[in-house]
Amino acid sequence: MKYLVICGGTVSGIGKGTIVSSIGVILKACGYKLTAIKIDPYLNIDAGTMSPYEHGEVFVLDDGGEVDLDLGNYERFLNLTLTWDHNITTGKIYKNIIEKERRGDYLGKTVQVVPHVTDEIQNWIFRVSQQPIFDRDTNEESKPDICLVEVGGTVGDIEGATYFEALRQLILKVGLENVCLIFTSFVPYLRGSGELKTKPTQHGNKELRSLGLIADMIVCRSEVPLDMATKEKIALFTNARPDRVFCCEDVNTVYKVPVQLESQGISKQICDKLNIEWRVPNLSRYISYVSLWERLKEDNTTVTIVIVGKYTESQDAYMSLVKALFHAAMACKRKLNLTWVESENLENPEHPDWEKVYQSQGVLVAGGFGGRGAEGKILTVKYARENKKPMLGICLGMQMAVIEYARNVLGLSANSTEVDEHTENPVIIDMPDFDKENKGHTMRLGSKPTSLTQDSLAYRLYNGSSVVWERHRHRFEVNPQYITRFEEAGLIFSGKDPTNTRMEVVELSQQTHPFFLGTQYHPEFKTSPFTPSPIYYGFILAAINLLPSGLIDSRHIEFN
Ligand SMILES: *[C@@H]1O[C@H](CO)[C@@H](O)[C@H](O)[C@H]1NC(C)=O
Ligand SMILES: *[C@@H]1O[C@H](CO)[C@@H](O)[C@H](O)[C@H]1NC(C)=O
Ligand SMILES: *[C@@H]1O[C@H](CO)[C@@H](O)[C@H](O)[C@H]1NC(C)=O
Ligand SMILES: *[C@@H]1O[C@H](CO)[C@@H](O)[C@H](O)[C@H]1NC(C)=O
Ligand SMILES: *[C@@H]1O[C@H](CO)[C@@H](O)[C@H](O)[C@H]1NC(C)=O
Ligand SMILES: *[C@@H]1O[C@H](CO)[C@@H](O)[C@H](O)[C@H]1NC(C)=O
Ligand SMILES: *[C@@H]1O[C@H](CO)[C@@H](O)[C@H](O)[C@H]1NC(C)=O
Repeated sequence: MKYLVICGGTVSGIGKGTIVSSIGVILKACGYKLTAIKIDPYLNIDAGTMSPYEHGEVFVLDDGGEVDLDLGNYERFLNLTLTWDHNITTGKIYKNIIEKERRGDYLGKTVQVVPHVTDEIQNWIFRVSQQPIFDRDTNEESKPDICLVEVGGTVGDIEGATYFEALRQLILKVGLENVCLIFTSFVPYLRGSGELKTKPTQHGNKELRSLGLIADMIVCRSEVPLDMATKEKIALFTNARPDRVFCCEDVNTVYKVPVQLESQGISKQICDKLNIEWRVPNLSRYISYVSLWERLKEDNTTVTIVIVGKYTESQDAYMSLVKALFHAAMACKRKLNLTWVESENLENPEHPDWEKVYQSQGVLVAGGFGGRGAEGKILTVKYARENKKPMLGICLGMQMAVIEYARNVLGLSANSTEVDEHTENPVIIDMPDFDKENKGHTMRLGSKPTSLTQDSLAYRLYNGSSVVWERHRHRFEVNPQYITRFEEAGLIFSGKDPTNTRMEVVELSQQTHPFFLGTQYHPEFKTSPFTPSPIYYGFILAAINLLPSGLIDSRHIEFN
């Protein structure tokens, strides 16, 4: 097993996750199998209870793990299926240790940070790096060759110190030839004097050396390319060789980063350091993807989509959704023109934001918890339904579509028990297994099967699959008691769970509406650049009036 450890210094938020994912893409293109671990020195045990405003989207894994959007990036870039175990937090480590201590596993010894916590961290890394991992490229589980370990935060943080000590010991145990340590850093560019400043990189690196770690490679983020003299200077102060100092200058799309790093020869250096055979990576797919993107930017073939949601001021909260729309638009050879509307604004019929809804080619009603803005979403659905505008409802958005139908077609005074516990017609209710006391772990989470009705829109979007697996994160669902009444009035529940009691997909017949579909699950968690999510792909096709009437194969799309 080889380890590629990536940490960062001085400034955070420089896109370390993108650098890690891009290096992963390159190594994968060299023919190596990868796995990835993200270390977050927080005390939280999972991201489920964290606010999307503060923390960005909560990303859900197949196994139901709630993690942050970095693991989403890894999955999308590396085409892997990760698990809760691939995210280490201080909370998880300490929880394990405290449980062991209570069980008496330490045989009465004093439990200390060194060696107990540091051992626990190393053992976690050893264990998870050996686990076979499901690779969507080959469609099979296999043992990885290289494990990427990203340490969150920056070198020198108090919280991170234990992890660096653990990594130092890990390197001693597995041997220097099995670890490549990459230090990422920011190199500020002073516009006035046209100077690149290397001091922050030097200081961050000094901090790293004081922890007993020497970086093998330096990846610098900067506004402009680094010249040779700057690279040499950085090399001199960091003990890395000049040909192992790489530059990641600002680019307008993240899909350029793998090509940018490889053009400086990074894969050869990593393979040499890890003492493994180097094969020329074939990044031609990324090159064509980027050139398609550039071309679409130039001409004006856009598709305009409006997202009606709740956290629209913090767009990271809908990261996967935006990626899914982007991937689907790329597959349709359209430039995505995305606009955002806070659903609460739409509760006022005079609000100027309605103009954005009218001008769009498709409306996406997004998820989000709680009652605020719910009525605005319902009005949006009504508008889309009556005006035959393609509409996709995700999670809460799907529930709002159901309420809208109940109110305006069935004529019921309907509501969700989430906003009105005593509503006359509870068409959306708590899941039977919901436990009100314990907010953390009562959601229906992770990958679950959905059976699709033959020849429904959903069935065709999934290329004629009768069962699909998608990821869930919800607490409320459609009340099964109303299903017959809905279906008699033309609303089709085309996807149900295997027990037939949970409604997963709702749609209108295409004779009635070009694309009116809602999913209780989140198909956006499984999108990837070359394989857009089938639901989003169909939605964009409908928005540009190109939705075919037969099966739709969202794989094997050409991007050139
Ligand atoms: C890992 O879990 C912690 C704690 O909830 C969270 O803050 C962090 O964002 C997660 N990291 C990833 C990559 O999911
Ligand atoms: C991921 O794997 C699928 C096969 O399941 C393939 O079609 C797709 O192109 C791959 N995507 C990436 C980003 O490698
Ligand atoms: C690189 O991969 C593409 C397909 O993704 C293939 O068409 C091309 O022949 C490959 N190039 C080399 C040099 O192997
Ligand atoms: C796209 O729009 C720009 C400015 O609106 C215009 O100059 C250009 O000719 C258009 N390109 C095409 C291919 O229509
Ligand atoms: C993008 O969307 C906005 C808002 O709906 C619209 O005003 C604008 O014309 C759209 N741009 C293009 C190029 O379609
Ligand atoms: C649904 O509940 C919300 C929140 O209590 C309320 O504002 C709304 O009027 C209710 N609608 C109906 C039709 O009961
Ligand atoms: C989609 O369906 C067609 C016809 O059944 C089949 O030939 C094709 O292989 C399917 N594609 C995928 C990715 O399963």
